[in-house]
Amino acid sequence: MLFDESLYLFALILSLLTFANAQLPGNWPPVDKPPPVNDAWTKLVDMTKVPNAPVIKTVGNCGANDNFCNWSCTNCVRTNTTDIIQCPDKADWGLSFDDGPTEFTPTLLDYLSSQNIKVTFFVIGSRVIENPETLKNEYEAGHQIGVHTWSHTALTTQTNEEIIAEIKWTELAIQQAIGVTPTIMRPPYGDVDDRVRAILTQLGYKVVIWDKDTNDWMSGEDKTFQISWVEGNFTEWVKEDDPTGHISLEHDLYKQTAAQAPLVVPIVQGAGFNIKPVYQCVGDASPYVESTNTGTTDTTTGATTGATTDTTTGAAPATSAAITDGTQYLESSSANVASPTTSAKSNAISHINNNNNLLLSSVLLILSYFMII
Ligand SMILES: *[C@@H]1O[C@H](CO)[C@@H](O)[C@H](O)[C@H]1NC(C)=O
Ligand SMILES: *[C@@H]1O[C@H](CO)[C@@H](O)[C@H](O)[C@H]1NC(C)=O
Ligand SMILES: *[C@@H]1O[C@H](CO)[C@@H](O)[C@H](O)[C@H]1NC(C)=O
Ligand SMILES: [Zn+2]
Repeated sequence: MLFDESLYLFALILSLLTFANAQLPGNWPPVDKPPPVNDAWTKLVDMTKVPNAPVIKTVGNCGANDNFCNWSCTNCVRTNTTDIIQCPDKADWGLSFDDGPTEFTPTLLDYLSSQNIKVTFFVIGSRVIENPETLKNEYEAGHQIGVHTWSHTALTTQTNEEIIAEIKWTELAIQQAIGVTPTIMRPPYGDVDDRVRAILTQLGYKVVIWDKDTNDWMSGEDKTFQISWVEGNFTEWVKEDDPTGHISLEHDLYKQTAAQAPLVVPIVQGAGFNIKPVYQCVGDASPYVESTNTGTTDTTTGATTGATTDTTTGAAPATSAAITDGTQYLESSSANVASPTTSAKSNAISHINNNNNLLLSSVLLILSYFMII
């Protein structure tokens, strides 16, 4: 084996560089914890239009009356205003993947691109700052990007200000990574009520839930969950005679869940469904705020960006120099500035892991490369 200490050192330095480059530049709040609130962002929402629903202290406690249309309690939806639950056309199927981007996403992207399929990714801000290149690859391949909060906390347990911070920090990270602003979001656990909806609407978001849940995330936490159930569920679902199409929920969070696409895509397509990103199946012209502009003005910052990109062609994004990193928002908040590498695990997160194995795996990968040659 041609393996000695200098090679080891070289490999270590190289992998440290790879690791450092993988981070989204700038100062960001600690990952996987509710991010700091910010007055400038809070002012974007007219609180007189936000219903005074209770901020829930303990998750899982449904009151006797559902006065605020709580989806996770009663499956109540507001499809006439904010909520998108399924693709309206019965021939359409919106595949969606949550909780990434992760180290398992690139393999999924390779498969989707080999089949020329576009899907929707609901991304976590904490994962975006860790894997910005992967987000860029999702975007450039023509997949739709939606917001899935910064810390994956159930939104009905958060104050109005905290909900706004969850959305805006994630939005800022996405803007920084790919230069555009999503128009859809998915609440973690589907936990949404009229208070949360009123905030999201004012921030410019539609709420995308789902009508077909694979529960695939359980495979990461419960050893009795059989991953083959995902395929089994799709096989059953495509046989149903429903008046509408569907939006299914999967996760690119775990290796085995990200690996289900090559099994389920043929089932969905074999039954005659057209797989589409959500914006296409609901007939929206554009998946982002920016690409609805023919001019070059970024409406969020009022700054001038480069050429507006038609994302459907998969062209490179217009990255705006005017989009700032998190520094200014951290400075005007009470939170301590922390490097994104600070991997703070929050109790609020259940089916979210973190990428603290990334460094180790980079080292091993590069070492094994040198051991082979
Ligand atoms: C909404 O439903 C979830 C899930 O059952 C529950 O944990 C939460 O407390 C409810 N929120 C409100 C505001 O009722
Ligand atoms: C949407 O539906 C709700 C409940 O049925 C109703 O109260 C509300 O007025 C409707 N909003 C619009 C804009 O149609
Ligand atoms: C569908 O998934 C559920 C778990 O979410 C499982 O209990 C059930 O057996 C699955 N159905 C099939 C046909 O595999
Ligand atoms: Zn999630």
